[in-house]
Amino acid sequence: MKIRNICCIGAGYVGGPTMSVIAQKNPKIKVHVVDMNSDKIAAWNSENLENLPVYEPGLSKVVKEVRGRNLFFSTEVNKHIDEADMIFISVNTPTRISGEGKGYAADLKYVEACAKQIAEVSKSDKIIVEKSTVPVRTSEKIKKILLLHNNNVDFQILSNPEFLAEGTAMRDLEIPDRVLIGGDDTIEGQKAVNSLVKIYSSWVPKENILTTNLWSSELSKLTANAFLAQRISSINSLSELCEKTGADIEEVSKAIGMDSRIGSSFLKTSVGFGGSCFQKDILNLVYIARSEGLEKVADYWEQVLLINEHQRDRFSKKIIDLIKKEKLEPKILLLGWAFKKNTNDTRESAAIYVTNNLLNKNIGIDVYDPKVKQSQVDFDLSNLNEDYDKSLVNFIEEPFLNISEYNIIAIMTEWDKFKDYGWEKIYKIIKKPAYIFDGRNILEIEKIKKTGFNYIGLGRK
Ligand code: NAD
Ligand code: UGA
Repeated sequence: MKIRNICCIGAGYVGGPTMSVIAQKNPKIKVHVVDMNSDKIAAWNSENLENLPVYEPGLSKVVKEVRGRNLFFSTEVNKHIDEADMIFISVNTPTRISGEGKGYAADLKYVEACAKQIAEVSKSDKIIVEKSTVPVRTSEKIKKILLLHNNNVDFQILSNPEFLAEGTAMRDLEIPDRVLIGGDDTIEGQKAVNSLVKIYSSWVPKENILTTNLWSSELSKLTANAFLAQRISSINSLSELCEKTGADIEEVSKAIGMDSRIGSSFLKTSVGFGGSCFQKDILNLVYIARSEGLEKVADYWEQVLLINEHQRDRFSKKIIDLIKKEKLEPKILLLGWAFKKNTNDTRESAAIYVTNNLLNKNIGIDVYDPKVKQSQVDFDLSNLNEDYDKSLVNFIEEPFLNISEYNIIAIMTEWDKFKDYGWEKIYKIIKKPAYIFDGRNILEIEKIKKTGFNYIGLGRK
Protein backbone atom coordinates (compact mmCIF):
# COMPACT_ATOMS: atom_id res chain seq x y z
CA MET A 1 0.00 0.00 0.00
CA LYS A 2 1.36 3.43 -0.88
CA ILE A 3 1.24 5.58 2.24
CA ARG A 4 0.15 9.15 1.65
CA ASN A 5 -1.50 9.98 4.97
CA ILE A 6 -0.37 9.01 8.43
CA CYS A 7 -2.36 9.61 11.59
CA CYS A 8 -0.71 9.24 14.99
CA ILE A 9 -3.01 8.98 17.99
CA GLY A 10 -1.23 10.42 21.03
CA ALA A 11 0.77 13.65 20.95
CA GLY A 12 3.00 12.86 23.92
CA TYR A 13 6.72 12.34 24.47
CA VAL A 14 6.76 9.64 21.80
CA GLY A 15 4.08 10.70 19.32
CA GLY A 16 5.29 14.30 19.00
CA PRO A 17 9.03 13.77 18.42
CA THR A 18 8.62 10.53 16.42
CA MET A 19 6.13 11.98 13.98
CA SER A 20 8.16 15.18 13.62
CA VAL A 21 11.08 13.12 12.35
CA ILE A 22 8.93 10.85 10.14
CA ALA A 23 7.38 13.98 8.59
CA GLN A 24 10.74 15.65 8.17
CA LYS A 25 12.21 12.65 6.38
CA ASN A 26 9.14 11.91 4.25
CA PRO A 27 8.02 15.28 2.89
CA LYS A 28 5.48 13.66 0.53
CA ILE A 29 3.56 12.02 3.37
CA LYS A 30 1.07 14.09 5.35
CA VAL A 31 1.36 13.36 9.06
CA HIS A 32 -1.43 14.32 11.45
CA VAL A 33 -0.76 13.91 15.17
CA VAL A 34 -4.03 13.86 17.08
CA ASP A 35 -4.83 13.89 20.77
CA MET A 36 -7.94 14.23 22.90
CA ASN A 37 -6.09 16.69 25.13
CA SER A 38 -6.83 20.03 23.49
CA ASP A 39 -4.39 21.98 25.71
CA LYS A 40 -1.59 19.71 24.55
CA ILE A 41 -2.51 20.16 20.89
CA ALA A 42 -2.70 23.94 21.38
CA ALA A 43 0.78 23.83 22.92
CA TRP A 44 2.11 21.82 19.94
CA ASN A 45 0.63 24.49 17.68
CA SER A 46 1.92 27.45 19.66
CA GLU A 47 3.78 30.17 17.80
CA ASN A 48 6.38 30.36 20.52
CA LEU A 49 8.38 27.16 20.21
CA GLU A 50 9.44 27.49 23.85
CA ASN A 51 5.88 26.45 24.71
CA LEU A 52 5.91 23.02 23.03
CA PRO A 53 4.61 20.50 25.58
CA VAL A 54 7.73 18.36 25.28
CA TYR A 55 11.21 19.71 25.89
CA GLU A 56 13.82 17.85 23.87
CA PRO A 57 17.07 19.32 22.54
CA GLY A 58 16.66 19.81 18.77
CA LEU A 59 12.90 19.20 18.70
CA SER A 60 11.74 22.78 18.20
CA LYS A 61 14.02 23.15 15.17
CA VAL A 62 12.41 20.18 13.43
CA VAL A 63 8.90 21.27 14.41
CA LYS A 64 9.63 24.72 13.00
CA GLU A 65 10.77 23.16 9.72
CA VAL A 66 7.86 20.77 9.16
CA ARG A 67 4.82 22.03 11.09
CA GLY A 68 2.30 23.34 8.57
CA ARG A 69 4.26 21.72 5.69
CA ASN A 70 3.41 18.05 6.17
CA LEU A 71 3.13 17.83 9.96
CA PHE A 72 -0.08 18.88 11.68
CA PHE A 73 -1.36 18.71 15.26
CA SER A 74 -5.10 18.39 15.72
CA THR A 75 -7.90 17.34 18.03
CA GLU A 76 -9.99 16.07 15.10
CA VAL A 77 -9.29 12.44 15.84
CA ASN A 78 -12.07 10.88 13.73
CA LYS A 79 -11.37 12.97 10.66
CA HIS A 80 -7.70 12.04 10.56
CA ILE A 81 -8.31 8.38 11.34
CA ASP A 82 -10.70 8.31 8.39
CA GLU A 83 -8.21 9.93 6.01
CA ALA A 84 -5.17 7.88 7.02
CA ASP A 85 -3.63 4.88 5.27
CA MET A 86 -1.49 4.13 8.30
CA ILE A 87 -2.36 4.84 11.95
CA PHE A 88 0.17 4.82 14.78
CA ILE A 89 -1.20 4.18 18.25
CA SER A 90 1.10 6.10 20.56
CA VAL A 91 -0.99 6.50 23.66
CA ASN A 92 -0.02 5.92 27.28
CA THR A 93 -0.03 2.39 28.73
CA PRO A 94 0.30 2.96 32.49
CA THR A 95 0.28 0.35 35.22
CA ARG A 96 -3.24 -0.72 36.17
CA ILE A 97 -4.46 0.89 39.38
CA SER A 98 -7.50 -1.36 39.82
CA GLY A 99 -8.95 -4.68 38.73
CA GLU A 100 -7.07 -7.77 37.65
CA GLY A 101 -3.32 -7.23 37.58
CA LYS A 102 -3.61 -4.09 39.73
CA GLY A 103 -0.16 -2.62 40.44
CA TYR A 104 1.52 -4.78 37.79
CA ALA A 105 -0.24 -5.26 34.46
CA ALA A 106 -0.25 -2.59 31.77
CA ASP A 107 -3.58 -0.82 31.50
CA LEU A 108 -4.55 -1.12 27.87
CA LYS A 109 -7.74 0.89 28.09
CA TYR A 110 -6.36 3.76 25.98
CA VAL A 111 -5.00 1.39 23.33
CA GLU A 112 -8.29 -0.51 23.26
CA ALA A 113 -10.28 2.73 23.01
CA CYS A 114 -8.17 3.71 20.00
CA ALA A 115 -8.79 0.33 18.35
CA LYS A 116 -12.54 0.68 18.84
CA GLN A 117 -12.54 4.24 17.54
CA ILE A 118 -10.47 3.28 14.49
CA ALA A 119 -12.86 0.43 13.72
CA GLU A 120 -15.94 2.62 14.04
CA VAL A 121 -14.57 5.39 11.86
CA SER A 122 -12.70 3.50 9.13
CA LYS A 123 -14.18 3.21 5.64
CA SER A 124 -10.99 2.11 3.87
CA ASP A 125 -8.19 -0.43 4.48
CA LYS A 126 -5.62 0.61 7.04
CA ILE A 127 -2.33 -0.43 8.56
CA ILE A 128 -2.40 -0.06 12.34
CA VAL A 129 0.96 0.38 14.02
CA GLU A 130 1.42 -0.32 17.73
CA LYS A 131 3.92 2.31 18.82
CA SER A 132 2.93 2.21 22.48
CA THR A 133 4.78 -0.28 24.68
CA VAL A 134 2.41 -3.19 25.24
CA PRO A 135 2.36 -6.71 26.65
CA VAL A 136 3.24 -9.54 24.32
CA ARG A 137 0.20 -10.58 22.22
CA THR A 138 -1.57 -7.22 22.48
CA SER A 139 -1.79 -7.04 18.70
CA GLU A 140 -4.08 -10.07 18.89
CA LYS A 141 -6.42 -8.14 21.21
CA ILE A 142 -6.35 -5.13 18.91
CA LYS A 143 -7.24 -7.31 15.96
CA LYS A 144 -10.21 -8.79 17.81
CA ILE A 145 -11.55 -5.34 18.71
CA LEU A 146 -11.12 -4.11 15.15
CA LEU A 147 -12.93 -7.11 13.69
CA LEU A 148 -15.70 -6.97 16.26
CA HIS A 149 -16.58 -3.40 15.31
CA ASN A 150 -15.80 -3.41 11.61
CA ASN A 151 -15.41 -6.31 9.22
CA ASN A 152 -15.84 -4.31 6.04
CA VAL A 153 -12.28 -3.13 5.66
CA ASP A 154 -8.91 -4.86 5.95
CA PHE A 155 -6.74 -3.99 8.95
CA GLN A 156 -3.12 -5.08 9.09
CA ILE A 157 -1.47 -4.76 12.46
CA LEU A 158 2.21 -4.07 12.99
CA SER A 159 4.30 -3.75 16.11
CA ASN A 160 6.88 -0.97 15.93
CA PRO A 161 8.05 -0.27 19.48
CA GLU A 162 9.92 2.93 20.15
CA PHE A 163 13.38 2.87 21.73
CA LEU A 164 14.08 6.59 22.05
CA ALA A 165 15.27 7.88 25.41
CA GLU A 166 14.08 11.26 26.61
CA GLY A 167 16.68 14.01 26.52
CA THR A 168 18.32 12.39 23.48
CA ALA A 169 15.13 11.61 21.55
CA MET A 170 16.00 13.54 18.42
CA ARG A 171 19.40 11.92 18.10
CA ASP A 172 17.92 8.50 18.85
CA LEU A 173 15.31 9.00 16.14
CA GLU A 174 17.81 10.37 13.64
CA ILE A 175 20.31 7.53 14.07
CA PRO A 176 18.51 4.66 15.79
CA ASP A 177 20.53 1.58 16.77
CA ARG A 178 17.69 -0.35 15.19
CA VAL A 179 14.11 0.05 14.08
CA LEU A 180 12.04 -2.98 14.97
CA ILE A 181 8.98 -3.95 12.95
CA GLY A 182 6.90 -7.00 13.73
CA GLY A 183 4.17 -8.23 11.41
CA ASP A 184 2.03 -11.19 10.44
CA ASP A 185 3.68 -13.86 8.37
CA THR A 186 1.04 -13.62 5.62
CA ILE A 187 1.31 -11.99 2.21
CA GLU A 188 -0.80 -9.02 3.39
CA GLY A 189 1.12 -8.85 6.67
CA GLN A 190 4.46 -8.71 4.87
CA LYS A 191 3.16 -6.05 2.47
CA ALA A 192 2.26 -3.94 5.49
CA VAL A 193 5.71 -4.52 7.00
CA ASN A 194 7.28 -3.36 3.74
CA SER A 195 5.17 -0.18 3.72
CA LEU A 196 6.56 0.76 7.12
CA VAL A 197 10.10 -0.32 6.21
CA LYS A 198 9.86 2.06 3.24
CA ILE A 199 8.99 4.99 5.50
CA TYR A 200 11.95 4.37 7.79
CA SER A 201 14.27 3.67 4.84
CA SER A 202 14.04 7.36 3.96
CA TRP A 203 16.78 7.87 6.53
CA VAL A 204 17.60 4.62 8.35
CA PRO A 205 20.04 2.19 6.67
CA LYS A 206 18.27 -1.03 5.67
CA GLU A 207 20.58 -3.15 7.84
CA ASN A 208 19.34 -1.29 10.91
CA ILE A 209 15.72 -2.14 10.20
CA LEU A 210 14.90 -5.45 11.80
CA THR A 211 11.72 -7.32 10.93
CA THR A 212 10.33 -10.06 13.15
CA ASN A 213 7.06 -11.70 14.01
CA LEU A 214 4.57 -9.67 16.08
CA TRP A 215 5.17 -11.38 19.40
CA SER A 216 8.96 -11.13 19.24
CA SER A 217 8.71 -7.44 18.51
CA GLU A 218 6.34 -6.80 21.41
CA LEU A 219 8.40 -8.82 23.87
CA SER A 220 11.72 -7.33 22.70
CA LYS A 221 10.61 -3.89 23.80
CA LEU A 222 9.83 -4.98 27.36
CA THR A 223 13.03 -7.00 27.44
CA ALA A 224 15.20 -4.10 26.29
CA ASN A 225 13.87 -1.85 29.06
CA ALA A 226 14.23 -4.61 31.64
CA PHE A 227 17.88 -5.18 30.65
CA LEU A 228 18.70 -1.48 30.80
CA ALA A 229 17.04 -1.03 34.18
CA GLN A 230 18.70 -4.19 35.49
CA ARG A 231 22.13 -2.71 34.80
CA ILE A 232 21.26 0.38 36.82
CA SER A 233 19.97 -1.66 39.75
CA SER A 234 23.07 -3.86 39.56
CA ILE A 235 25.43 -0.91 39.81
CA ASN A 236 23.26 0.80 42.43
CA SER A 237 23.23 -2.31 44.60
CA LEU A 238 27.02 -2.40 44.43
CA SER A 239 27.27 1.27 45.36
CA GLU A 240 26.01 0.26 48.78
CA LEU A 241 28.57 -2.52 49.01
CA CYS A 242 31.29 -0.02 48.06
CA GLU A 243 30.30 2.14 51.00
CA LYS A 244 30.82 -0.81 53.33
CA THR A 245 34.10 -2.02 51.85
CA GLY A 246 35.97 1.10 50.84
CA ALA A 247 35.82 0.36 47.13
CA ASP A 248 34.74 3.26 44.89
CA ILE A 249 31.78 2.60 42.60
CA GLU A 250 33.02 5.00 39.93
CA GLU A 251 36.25 3.03 39.71
CA VAL A 252 34.43 -0.30 39.73
CA SER A 253 32.04 0.94 37.04
CA LYS A 254 34.90 2.08 34.83
CA ALA A 255 36.83 -1.13 35.36
CA ILE A 256 33.95 -3.42 34.43
CA GLY A 257 32.70 -1.15 31.63
CA MET A 258 36.03 -1.49 29.81
CA ASP A 259 35.29 -5.17 29.34
CA SER A 260 33.88 -5.13 25.85
CA ARG A 261 31.51 -7.96 26.79
CA ILE A 262 29.96 -5.73 29.45
CA GLY A 263 30.25 -2.28 27.87
CA SER A 264 30.17 1.06 29.65
CA SER A 265 26.59 2.31 29.08
CA PHE A 266 24.00 2.29 31.84
CA LEU A 267 26.54 1.75 34.58
CA LYS A 268 26.13 5.17 36.17
CA THR A 269 25.13 5.00 39.81
CA SER A 270 22.16 7.15 40.70
CA VAL A 271 19.61 7.81 43.34
CA GLY A 272 17.43 5.42 41.36
CA PHE A 273 16.10 5.29 37.83
CA GLY A 274 12.95 7.21 37.07
CA GLY A 275 10.93 7.85 33.94
CA SER A 276 7.55 6.69 32.83
CA CYS A 277 8.65 3.34 31.47
CA PHE A 278 11.27 1.28 33.29
CA GLN A 279 9.11 0.62 36.35
CA LYS A 280 5.86 0.05 34.48
CA ASP A 281 7.46 -2.15 31.84
CA ILE A 282 9.22 -4.36 34.39
CA LEU A 283 6.01 -4.62 36.44
CA ASN A 284 4.32 -5.69 33.27
CA LEU A 285 7.02 -8.26 32.52
CA VAL A 286 6.70 -9.61 36.08
CA TYR A 287 2.93 -9.85 35.63
CA ILE A 288 3.23 -11.70 32.33
CA ALA A 289 5.75 -14.14 33.80
CA ARG A 290 3.53 -14.79 36.86
CA SER A 291 0.48 -15.23 34.62
CA GLU A 292 2.41 -17.92 32.77
CA GLY A 293 3.24 -19.60 36.11
CA LEU A 294 6.91 -18.57 35.94
CA GLU A 295 7.34 -17.49 39.58
CA LYS A 296 11.15 -17.62 39.58
CA VAL A 297 11.37 -15.51 36.43
CA ALA A 298 8.92 -13.00 37.90
CA ASP A 299 10.85 -12.80 41.19
CA TYR A 300 14.11 -12.29 39.34
CA TRP A 301 12.88 -9.21 37.46
CA GLU A 302 10.94 -7.82 40.40
CA GLN A 303 14.21 -7.58 42.30
CA VAL A 304 15.35 -4.86 39.87
CA LEU A 305 12.50 -2.70 41.14
CA LEU A 306 13.09 -3.53 44.80
CA ILE A 307 16.72 -2.40 44.53
CA ASN A 308 15.59 0.80 42.83
CA GLU A 309 13.19 1.58 45.66
CA HIS A 310 15.88 0.69 48.18
CA GLN A 311 18.35 3.07 46.54
CA ARG A 312 15.90 5.98 46.79
CA ASP A 313 15.10 5.12 50.39
CA ARG A 314 18.67 4.78 51.49
CA PHE A 315 19.53 8.12 49.88
CA SER A 316 16.69 9.78 51.83
CA LYS A 317 17.86 7.99 54.98
CA LYS A 318 21.38 9.36 54.55
CA ILE A 319 19.94 12.88 54.70
CA ILE A 320 17.59 12.13 57.60
CA ASP A 321 20.31 10.35 59.61
CA LEU A 322 22.73 13.22 59.13
CA ILE A 323 20.19 15.75 60.36
CA LYS A 324 19.63 13.65 63.48
CA LYS A 325 23.29 12.89 64.09
CA GLU A 326 24.49 16.46 63.66
CA LYS A 327 21.38 17.92 65.29
CA LEU A 328 21.04 20.17 62.27
CA GLU A 329 18.32 22.66 61.76
CA PRO A 330 18.05 21.65 58.13
CA LYS A 331 17.62 24.08 55.30
CA ILE A 332 17.59 21.88 52.22
CA LEU A 333 17.88 22.73 48.54
CA LEU A 334 17.10 19.99 46.02
CA LEU A 335 18.72 20.59 42.65
CA GLY A 336 16.72 18.97 39.88
CA TRP A 337 13.25 17.51 39.68
CA ALA A 338 13.16 15.99 36.16
CA PHE A 339 13.91 12.24 36.05
CA LYS A 340 17.04 12.91 34.00
CA LYS A 341 18.74 15.87 32.37
CA ASN A 342 17.52 17.54 29.17
CA THR A 343 13.85 16.76 29.67
CA ASN A 344 10.92 18.44 31.39
CA ASP A 345 9.44 15.01 32.19
CA THR A 346 9.17 14.24 35.91
CA ARG A 347 7.30 10.93 35.81
CA GLU A 348 8.61 8.53 38.49
CA SER A 349 11.52 10.87 39.17
CA ALA A 350 13.55 9.80 42.21
CA ALA A 351 13.25 13.39 43.48
CA ILE A 352 9.53 12.84 44.11
CA TYR A 353 10.13 9.80 46.33
CA VAL A 354 13.08 11.30 48.20
CA THR A 355 11.08 14.46 48.90
CA ASN A 356 8.11 12.44 50.06
CA ASN A 357 10.36 10.53 52.50
CA LEU A 358 11.66 13.83 53.89
CA LEU A 359 8.18 15.31 54.16
CA ASN A 360 7.06 12.23 56.08
CA LYS A 361 9.65 13.23 58.70
CA ASN A 362 8.31 16.78 58.59
CA ILE A 363 11.44 18.03 56.86
CA GLY A 364 10.68 20.74 54.30
CA ILE A 365 12.67 21.48 51.14
CA ASP A 366 13.32 24.10 48.53
CA VAL A 367 13.57 22.82 44.97
CA TYR A 368 14.90 24.12 41.68
CA ASP A 369 14.81 22.64 38.18
CA PRO A 370 15.62 24.53 34.97
CA LYS A 371 12.74 22.97 32.98
CA VAL A 372 10.07 22.04 35.51
CA LYS A 373 7.35 24.30 36.89
CA GLN A 374 6.09 24.57 40.47
CA SER A 375 2.65 23.25 39.50
CA GLN A 376 4.29 20.02 38.31
CA VAL A 377 6.17 19.58 41.59
CA ASP A 378 2.92 20.04 43.54
CA PHE A 379 1.12 17.66 41.19
CA ASP A 380 3.78 14.96 41.56
CA LEU A 381 3.84 15.13 45.35
CA SER A 382 0.08 15.24 45.84
CA ASN A 383 -0.27 12.41 43.35
CA LEU A 384 2.04 10.23 45.47
CA ASN A 385 0.65 11.27 48.83
CA GLU A 386 -2.82 12.68 49.29
CA ASP A 387 -1.75 14.23 52.62
CA TYR A 388 0.90 16.30 50.86
CA ASP A 389 1.60 19.45 52.85
CA LYS A 390 2.30 22.10 50.25
CA SER A 391 3.65 24.53 52.83
CA LEU A 392 6.74 22.33 53.28
CA VAL A 393 7.84 22.63 49.66
CA ASN A 394 9.09 25.84 48.21
CA PHE A 395 9.79 26.16 44.50
CA ILE A 396 12.78 28.35 43.70
CA GLU A 397 13.12 30.17 40.38
CA GLU A 398 16.67 31.34 41.00
CA PRO A 399 18.65 28.97 43.23
CA PHE A 400 21.51 31.37 43.89
CA LEU A 401 19.39 34.18 45.21
CA ASN A 402 19.18 32.99 48.82
CA ILE A 403 21.89 30.36 48.64
CA SER A 404 23.49 31.48 51.92
CA GLU A 405 20.51 30.06 53.85
CA TYR A 406 21.11 26.39 53.02
CA ASN A 407 23.17 23.85 54.88
CA ILE A 408 22.18 20.80 52.78
CA ILE A 409 22.19 20.66 48.98
CA ALA A 410 21.08 17.47 47.25
CA ILE A 411 21.71 16.94 43.54
CA MET A 412 18.80 14.91 42.18
CA THR A 413 19.15 15.41 38.41
CA GLU A 414 22.43 15.47 36.50
CA TRP A 415 21.77 18.78 34.69
CA ASP A 416 25.14 19.97 33.29
CA LYS A 417 24.83 23.34 35.01
CA PHE A 418 24.93 21.68 38.45
CA LYS A 419 28.37 20.23 37.75
CA ASP A 420 30.14 23.54 37.62
CA TYR A 421 27.98 25.66 39.81
CA GLY A 422 30.86 27.71 41.23
CA TRP A 423 30.69 25.64 44.40
CA GLU A 424 33.74 27.35 45.81
CA LYS A 425 32.02 30.71 45.82
CA ILE A 426 28.85 29.21 47.21
CA TYR A 427 30.67 27.58 50.10
CA LYS A 428 31.99 30.97 51.16
CA ILE A 429 28.50 32.34 51.75
CA ILE A 430 26.52 29.27 52.74
CA LYS A 431 25.48 28.32 56.32
CA LYS A 432 28.10 26.12 58.02
CA PRO A 433 28.46 23.20 58.31
CA ALA A 434 27.40 22.58 54.71
CA TYR A 435 26.72 19.23 53.06
CA ILE A 436 26.36 18.17 49.44
CA PHE A 437 24.50 14.94 48.72
CA ASP A 438 25.48 14.04 45.20
CA GLY A 439 22.66 11.73 44.07
CA ARG A 440 24.22 11.44 40.61
CA ASN A 441 27.92 11.30 41.47
CA ILE A 442 28.53 14.17 39.07
CA LEU A 443 30.92 16.24 41.17
CA GLU A 444 34.66 15.76 41.31
CA ILE A 445 35.26 14.68 44.89
CA GLU A 446 38.68 16.20 45.40
CA LYS A 447 37.62 19.52 43.94
CA ILE A 448 34.42 19.76 45.97
CA LYS A 449 36.09 18.72 49.21
CA LYS A 450 38.62 21.52 48.76
CA THR A 451 35.77 24.02 48.78
CA GLY A 452 34.95 22.99 52.37
CA PHE A 453 31.69 21.21 51.64
CA ASN A 454 31.11 17.86 53.31
CA TYR A 455 30.63 15.56 50.35
CA ILE A 456 28.27 12.57 50.43
CA GLY A 457 28.04 10.66 47.18
CA LEU A 458 26.92 7.14 46.36
CA GLY A 459 29.48 4.38 46.82
CA ARG A 460 32.33 6.89 46.94
CA LYS A 461 34.73 7.65 49.72
P1 NAD B 1 2.29 10.50 26.99
O1 NAD B 1 1.44 10.35 28.20
O2 NAD B 1 3.32 11.57 26.93
O3 NAD B 1 1.33 10.68 25.72
C1 NAD B 1 0.23 9.90 25.45
C2 NAD B 1 -0.85 10.77 24.84
O4 NAD B 1 -1.92 9.96 24.37
C3 NAD B 1 -1.48 11.76 25.83
O5 NAD B 1 -1.29 13.08 25.36
C4 NAD B 1 -2.96 11.38 25.85
O6 NAD B 1 -3.84 12.48 25.96
C5 NAD B 1 -3.12 10.70 24.51
N1 NAD B 1 -4.27 9.77 24.42
C6 NAD B 1 -4.57 8.73 25.22
N2 NAD B 1 -5.68 8.09 24.78
C7 NAD B 1 -6.10 8.75 23.68
C8 NAD B 1 -7.18 8.56 22.78
N3 NAD B 1 -8.03 7.54 22.93
N4 NAD B 1 -7.33 9.45 21.77
C9 NAD B 1 -6.46 10.47 21.63
N5 NAD B 1 -5.41 10.69 22.43
C10 NAD B 1 -5.22 9.83 23.45
O7 NAD B 1 2.97 9.08 26.77
P2 NAD B 1 4.37 8.79 26.06
O8 NAD B 1 5.48 9.03 27.01
O9 NAD B 1 4.39 9.44 24.72
O10 NAD B 1 4.28 7.21 25.88
C11 NAD B 1 3.41 6.63 24.94
C12 NAD B 1 3.74 5.15 24.80
O11 NAD B 1 5.08 5.01 24.30
C13 NAD B 1 3.70 4.36 26.11
O12 NAD B 1 3.22 3.09 25.85
C14 NAD B 1 5.17 4.30 26.52
O13 NAD B 1 5.44 3.16 27.30
C15 NAD B 1 5.87 4.22 25.19
N6 NAD B 1 7.24 4.75 25.17
C16 NAD B 1 7.54 5.91 25.82
C17 NAD B 1 8.83 6.43 25.74
C18 NAD B 1 9.21 7.72 26.43
O14 NAD B 1 10.38 8.04 26.43
N7 NAD B 1 8.29 8.46 27.00
C19 NAD B 1 9.79 5.79 24.96
C20 NAD B 1 9.43 4.60 24.31
C21 NAD B 1 8.15 4.10 24.41
C1 UGA C 1 14.36 4.43 28.51
C2 UGA C 1 15.18 3.64 27.50
O1 UGA C 1 16.55 4.06 27.57
C3 UGA C 1 14.65 3.84 26.09
O2 UGA C 1 15.36 3.03 25.17
C4 UGA C 1 13.17 3.47 26.06
O3 UGA C 1 12.64 3.73 24.78
C5 UGA C 1 12.43 4.29 27.09
O4 UGA C 1 13.00 4.07 28.40
C6 UGA C 1 10.98 3.95 27.20
O5 UGA C 1 10.58 2.87 26.84
O6 UGA C 1 10.30 4.82 27.74
P1 UGA C 1 14.25 6.96 29.30
O7 UGA C 1 13.50 6.41 30.45
O8 UGA C 1 13.67 8.09 28.55
O9 UGA C 1 14.53 5.81 28.21
O10 UGA C 1 15.70 7.42 29.77
P2 UGA C 1 17.02 6.60 30.19
O11 UGA C 1 18.18 7.30 29.62
O12 UGA C 1 16.91 5.17 29.92
O13 UGA C 1 17.05 6.84 31.77
C7 UGA C 1 16.09 6.24 32.61
C8 UGA C 1 16.49 6.50 34.06
O14 UGA C 1 17.66 5.76 34.40
C9 UGA C 1 16.81 7.96 34.35
O15 UGA C 1 16.33 8.31 35.62
C10 UGA C 1 18.32 7.98 34.32
O16 UGA C 1 18.87 9.03 35.06
C11 UGA C 1 18.63 6.64 34.94
N1 UGA C 1 19.97 6.12 34.60
C12 UGA C 1 20.31 5.91 33.31
C13 UGA C 1 20.85 5.82 35.62
O17 UGA C 1 20.54 5.99 36.81
N2 UGA C 1 22.08 5.32 35.31
C14 UGA C 1 22.46 5.10 34.02
O18 UGA C 1 23.60 4.63 33.81
C15 UGA C 1 21.55 5.39 33.00
